[in-house]
Amino acid sequence: MKVFTTRIIPEEGLALLERAGITVTQWSEPREMSLEEMIAKCKENDALLFAGGRKIDRSLLEHCRHLKIISLLSVGYDNVDLKAATELGIQITNTPGVLSNATADTAFLLMLTVARKAFFHHKRIIKGEWGFSSPTANLGVDIEGKTLGIWGLGNIGSVMAQRCRAAFDMKIIYCNRHRNEAAEKALDAQWVSFDELLEQSDVLSVHTSLTPETKEKFNKAAFAKMKPSAIFINAARGGIHNETDLIAALETGQIWGAGLDVTNPEPMHPDNPLLQMPTVAVLPHIGSATVETRNAMSRIAAQNIIAAFEGQPVPNPVNH
Ligand code: DGY
Repeated sequence: MKVFTTRIIPEEGLALLERAGITVTQWSEPREMSLEEMIAKCKENDALLFAGGRKIDRSLLEHCRHLKIISLLSVGYDNVDLKAATELGIQITNTPGVLSNATADTAFLLMLTVARKAFFHHKRIIKGEWGFSSPTANLGVDIEGKTLGIWGLGNIGSVMAQRCRAAFDMKIIYCNRHRNEAAEKALDAQWVSFDELLEQSDVLSVHTSLTPETKEKFNKAAFAKMKPSAIFINAARGGIHNETDLIAALETGQIWGAGLDVTNPEPMHPDNPLLQMPTVAVLPHIGSATVETRNAMSRIAAQNIIAAFEGQPVPNPVNH
């Protein structure tokens, strides 16, 4: 059996595949593959381990009917036309759970970075602008005791809430389609409407997936309802906020700051005004990017493939 990986994957997943007698070919060039190259690779192999790259749309999937599985090295699957994959009988799997801590840590990092304007100060020091420090200079804001609003209290959102409660005794409110009573009990969290989430959050952290319903949910109207002191955090998907509206909300003081691990589009253009704002911190989608987490993700992606090759139920299906 042969597997193609769209990027170099971490050692532990690779070793699992090879130990199972699977031949692995990896895309190692530092550029995205063209559609033609991707189709050719899919045709030569029995499974695809998708570790990033172009969208897996119907035009690609039409050439993938023979694949036993497309195993995603991610929890998110917004990059795949799931309807087309299901219609064409192609199994899609993902890597949930193991990246919750690392991704929540990224949101937590962004919250503190924005609150204390850390990236802004770092950039000033590089430019030789340490300057004269007075009691009224370089001021950020406290997080202790403030209200954390979570949009999407699932695995990652719950870890973020736990971290914030333990470290800063934050009050937790959340907005989900359905009530999460277990989390409410564990975190003393309160279920609120979307408008209440906007109006009450001091820090509003997004942890939901990108779907037609969540696309650009954080737009002009939403930012207008937030506190002028609020910090907006998105470590989920850039498509969930409207970047032009976010820039305007920050420029006009409708909200105070923003921390983004995901942007819209990615990569963010270096001239983007967000990068010059003192109360903004941007990271290049590193939510799950730790050695331990990426190794764990690669093991799960490999296990999904091995199960599919052995005719066993795959551990992490997202369709079928
Ligand atoms: C995920 O796993 O979905 C991360 O955001 C990486 O894409």
